[in-house]
Amino acid sequence: MSHTTHSDEETKALAAEFARTLHGGEVVFLEGDLGSGKTTFVRGVAEALGFSDPVRSPSFTIVNRYVIQHPTIKQMLHVDLYRLKDVSELSALALEEELERPGTVAFIEWPSLFRDVFPTPSVVLTLTALPAGEHKIEIQDLR
Ligand SMILES: Nc1ncnc2c1ncn2[C@@H]1O[C@H](COP(=O)(O)OP(=O)(O)O)[C@@H](O)[C@H]1O
Ligand SMILES: [Mg+2]
Repeated sequence: MSHTTHSDEETKALAAEFARTLHGGEVVFLEGDLGSGKTTFVRGVAEALGFSDPVRSPSFTIVNRYVIQHPTIKQMLHVDLYRLKDVSELSALALEEELERPGTVAFIEWPSLFRDVFPTPSVVLTLTALPAGEHKIEIQDLR
C-alpha cells in the first residue's frame, strides 16, 4: 500500500492509523534516506499509543525506549542504526532479547546496515521525500 503525505501532521495521522494495527511483538523496519520522514512516522505512532513526552531521534543514543500504557503493548523501542559503527556496539545494547517480546513493538531506522542481526520484520515501511514537499510512504505488511 502506497500513500503520499503533504505535512508532518499527515504523516503522523497515517502513523496513528497504522498504530491501531499493532498488538505487541511486531518488528517494523523503516527504509529511506535521511529526511524521508522515518522519525516523524515513529513519533506519530508513539503519540497515538499515548506516549506524551517528546520523541527525539535516537541517532546518537541508537535506541530510545518509550513506556506505553495499552492493553497489550508495554514498551516501544525506537532504534536508529545510522551512526552505529560496529555490530559489537549493537550486541552491547542486548536488543535481540527484547525484540519480538509480546509486550514490545520495535521500530528500526536503517535496518539494512545490520540486516543479519534482526528477525524477519512484520512490516517494512519505505519512505521517500518527493519534490514539492511531498513524502511517499509505502507499507509492506508481512504479517
Ligand atoms: N509529509 C511529510 N512527512 C514527514 N516529514 C515531512 C513531511 N513534510 C516535511 N517533512 C519534514 O521532513 C523532515 C523529515 O525528517 P525525519 O522524520 O527526521 O526523517 P528521517 O528520520 O527519515 O531522517 C522533517 O524536517 C519534517 O518536518
Ligand atoms: Mg530518523
